[in-house]
Amino acid sequence: MKAMLVTHYGPPEEMELRELPSPKPGANQVLIDVKACGVNFPDVLMLADKYQFKPALPFPVGGEVAGIVRELGEGVSNVKVGDRVAVSIGNGGFAEQVLADSRRIIPVPANVSFEVASAFIVTYGTSYHALKDRARLKAGETLVVLGAAGGVGLSAVELGVAMGAKVIAGASSQEKVDLAIKHGAADGFVYPRLPLSRDQQKALSDTIKAKTDGKGADVLYDPVGDQYAEPALRAMNWEGRYLVIGFAAGEIPKIPLNLTLLKGCDVQGVFWGAFTGRNPKAANEDLRAIMGMISEGKLKPDVSATFSLADSAKAVRLLQDRKAMGKVVVTM
Ligand SMILES: NC(=O)c1ccc[n+]([C@@H]2O[C@H](COP(=O)([O-])OP(=O)(O)OC[C@H]3O[C@@H](n4cnc5c(N)ncnc54)[C@H](OP(=O)(O)O)[C@@H]3O)[C@@H](O)[C@H]2O)c1
Repeated sequence: MKAMLVTHYGPPEEMELRELPSPKPGANQVLIDVKACGVNFPDVLMLADKYQFKPALPFPVGGEVAGIVRELGEGVSNVKVGDRVAVSIGNGGFAEQVLADSRRIIPVPANVSFEVASAFIVTYGTSYHALKDRARLKAGETLVVLGAAGGVGLSAVELGVAMGAKVIAGASSQEKVDLAIKHGAADGFVYPRLPLSRDQQKALSDTIKAKTDGKGADVLYDPVGDQYAEPALRAMNWEGRYLVIGFAAGEIPKIPLNLTLLKGCDVQGVFWGAFTGRNPKAANEDLRAIMGMISEGKLKPDVSATFSLADSAKAVRLLQDRKAMGKVVVTM
């Protein structure tokens, strides 16, 4: 089987396509013929040796896959050979075959494509956990999403709408804001690229307040961080919840704590990967619920571009260059 390997840290174009032996499933594992692999920002970070989880070199990136079960390891009874499945695996998905823990697998209904099935687990799983378990978003509340046309951002828009919130989408271009509005956001705003002057930071706070009827965000979903974070926190409503999702813009922001005091608001960390490890049953139930909503057409993960395994560097490059809209997928 072929795999696209990171042999050394560096640009995605230096990954190498190699022929490897088929892996053998161990106890509770299944071997999957991968049909599609979703690309996520952690893939960009892993290639640059900037991610918290560091697989041993050489390794393929690719944290979520959909495909067909090829072989069962000892003790596996929840799936059978030939089943259509999706699963998050941390890394390894840029390959024609992967091993996965059978207990993490979710079935893929016949009306959901492998591309879509490979492109929702990390993003919708993260946003569902963030909005439902952490922020406890309520119907009628205002949810502001930054990076709203990115992978996790667009999933937060769709889930926020499905949970009855009024969603306001922030992104770095009108094209990105329009995509979020197409996915249900009620309104949106364009923010400038870094670096932000003091005036631009104040303008960002003012814009968020204006778009939330002067009250500020009840819940703010932030996957970008850096200089966007503090102006966003300054635009929280009383008893708002600020969700720390990630730092795609670069720096991890340092926040003056008095802002939380003045707003009576919470800053809430979100780490979906750790949540799935600590509470695998709840995480699996969440994913099955999300898959149900996708199958019923209530959620529509947006796959904007697909690339072959041989061209998978181009997929990572789109995210790295801030050009990805919705999800980018590698197909085998
Ligand atoms: N906490 C968790 O459990 C969890 C789970 C999954 C992902 N994450 C994190 O969430 C973040 C987004 O991941 P994703 O997979 O959704 O990535 P993505 O699809 O590439 O989206 C990232 C968004 O960030 C914005 N951005 C701002 N500055 C950027 C820059 N310099 N380079 C690239 N993008 C930039 C872009 O939107 P604009 O251009 O509109 O600003 C882009 O749409 C990452 O930091 C990732 O590590 C966290």
